[in-house]
Amino acid sequence: MKAVEAENLTILYSGQPALSDVTFTLEEGKTLLLLGPNGAGKTTLLKTIACFHREYTGELRVFERPPCEARELIGYVPQSQSLNERVPLTALEVVAMGGVYRKGFVHFRIPGEVIEKAEKVLEFVGLGGIGDRLFRELSGGQKQRVLLARALMSDPRLLLLDEPLSALDPSARAEVANVLDKIKREKGVTMIITTHDINPLLEIGDLVMLINRRLIAFGRPEEVLTDEVIKSVYGPMAKVIPVGGKVYCITGDFHIHRGGEKI
Ligand SMILES: Nc1ncnc2c1ncn2[C@@H]1O[C@H](COP(=O)(O)OP(=O)(O)OP(=O)(O)O)[C@@H](O)[C@H]1O
Ligand SMILES: [Mg+2]
Repeated sequence: MKAVEAENLTILYSGQPALSDVTFTLEEGKTLLLLGPNGAGKTTLLKTIACFHREYTGELRVFERPPCEARELIGYVPQSQSLNERVPLTALEVVAMGGVYRKGFVHFRIPGEVIEKAEKVLEFVGLGGIGDRLFRELSGGQKQRVLLARALMSDPRLLLLDEPLSALDPSARAEVANVLDKIKREKGVTMIITTHDINPLLEIGDLVMLINRRLIAFGRPEEVLTDEVIKSVYGPMAKVIPVGGKVYCITGDFHIHRGGEKI
């Protein structure tokens, strides 16, 4: 089954194209890493697949139907979290929200079976013991895993993750990347993950798409992640360094710190 199929897809805001003429196919069960500089159209593409944005031309099909007919199958974790942290919700309540909002109701009391499922999903993301802790008091990596758990509550077949690693330190990035790997292996969920730092995700990416207001490259990581392609988007300072059969990417958005100096 094809999870996402786009043909000559052009996405517009008030008639102005933000992302033009994109054609690709993502098979179910695969993980796609979506790369591109600021303003490239990454969030725009995710929102359109999720049916949050509907102004486009060309063909877009999600599980072989129009995006808005596939909403039940999609989990979406937005880029900057809109969760109001002044409301003192526990981690378990945040996760459980993913199981009640979907039905279109605001519940004043969360049903017991939703709580039970939320506990299991928290366990799955490696946070079994923290259900009672306040969400706002968790570490960045823990928060991101709680938000992943919330998205998993509806058993999505396609997960759209907008920069799940941004604003995390390297060890938290690895933590979240491990959970994404587990979701892929154990649940077989198709994922599209946007990221500025591709390196922690290279192990789980079956495909890489590079965009910059249009499609620059799409294919297996070793096809897309070449010095030439990366430099064409991120400029001459960007490079791909081969390390023991794998690659390490340095783009303009990502810096290695050495002795406090950016290089
Ligand atoms: N609601 C909107 N109305 C009008 N233009 C928009 C809207 N949202 C995004 N855009 C424009 O569409 C283009 C793509 O934006 P988008 O947010 O998809 O980029 P991005 O690749 O996600 O960038 P970033 O890495 O900064 O998150 C930008 O030029 C942006 O200004
Ligand atoms: Mg974005």
